[in-house]
Amino acid sequence: MLQPSRRSAVPPFEVMSVIAAANARRSAGLSTVSLCAGEPSAGAPAAVRRRAAELAVAGTLGYTEALGTPALREAIAGHYDRWYGLAVEPAEVGVTTGSSGAFLLAFLAAFDVGDRVVLARPGYPAYRNILAALGCDVVEVGCGPATRYQLTAQILEDVVARTGPIAGVVVASPANPTGTMIPADELRALDAWCSANGVRLISDEIYHGITYGEPVSTAWESSRDGVVINSFSKYFGMTGWRLGWMLVPPDLRSAVDALAGNFALSPPALSQLAAVEAFHPASYAEADANVVRYRESRARVLSALPQLGWSRSAPADGAFYVFAELDDVTLAGLDAVPGGHGGDGRAQSPAARWCRRALEEAGVALTPGTDFDRVEGGRWVRLSFSAPPEVVGDAVDRLVAWVGSRRG
Ligand SMILES: Cc1ncc(COP(=O)(O)O)c(C=O)c1O
Repeated sequence: MLQPSRRSAVPPFEVMSVIAAANARRSAGLSTVSLCAGEPSAGAPAAVRRRAAELAVAGTLGYTEALGTPALREAIAGHYDRWYGLAVEPAEVGVTTGSSGAFLLAFLAAFDVGDRVVLARPGYPAYRNILAALGCDVVEVGCGPATRYQLTAQILEDVVARTGPIAGVVVASPANPTGTMIPADELRALDAWCSANGVRLISDEIYHGITYGEPVSTAWESSRDGVVINSFSKYFGMTGWRLGWMLVPPDLRSAVDALAGNFALSPPALSQLAAVEAFHPASYAEADANVVRYRESRARVLSALPQLGWSRSAPADGAFYVFAELDDVTLAGLDAVPGGHGGDGRAQSPAARWCRRALEEAGVALTPGTDFDRVEGGRWVRLSFSAPPEVVGDAVDRLVAWVGSRRG
């Protein structure tokens, strides 16, 4: 009998059943607020949209160079000077189909089948699923509050001592789902450890620009052995434009170029030509104004943590997420939802049950933590505050009232 390949067996997400239920509520005319998606609501800067409209009418929009147009690569290189005071050559930049496209290229160019690659748990699930589909051996390491839910050079040292050599490490700062950042000195230590041990560092910097305290540093400030990955999706609010980029070390450059040409011919031409406008002062100002709104929403959510009963949460240093643990009182008396499941036939997690009840009784959709941590995420939820502040405020009010009524 014909069957799909074993490596294509990517586990489904528990949030899918929450999203389906939220959509069903909306169709039934019930008021519903979704804070599931990590998607900026403001959209692309005005200059990018204007340029795209012109190009859609006048442009021929053929294929471009496989790793992006020279003008966009130059603009991205200039962004490193502007933000980090770092000299980057346009030839070191590869434009990709979202950062998602960059992961595929980076993982394929850097790792072989069977290579061991370390990830922090909780973490963004696509790292694990893409690596596994490519035949890499994913080594997830549970990271807690002591290290801001992030990997450290010491953790890598211990992993190698306990379990043997590794080929790569993926880090994200700020991270999804926790929003936590790797301090600049620790990022330097990670970089140095990877270079000294012949381990490839992949640094996901997609949430750079969306931070609430410490400035961020890029992995390329200390070493250019690793791959830096970024995107137009979050800070510039351009998720649907499917445009990202990578800084590629010299030894991977020809492999990444050849793979990019074969997989996609080129990233979307319309998006690339318009995205050059993102690197002008007015566009940065718009993106920064969105960060001011995230900051407002973040403050609203953090001030409600005691009333929500979310006694433990990861420090939301950046991005637009609060990742919080539900305590025993909050989880008490939650029955499994009929037909509910853990996404792949596993028992529904306590957090998924809480999310379903929060949706049914408060009209607010959140993401269960199991989607980011399949081992210890069963009591955690992720709230995304990327929606407009008034929407986030409404959702928080509803949740506070609902949690209060359950506690009596
Ligand atoms: C940490 C992280 N990396 C990468 C991505 C992928 O984004 P894109 O492919 O739109 O650049 C996401 C999306 O949510 C994310 O949270």
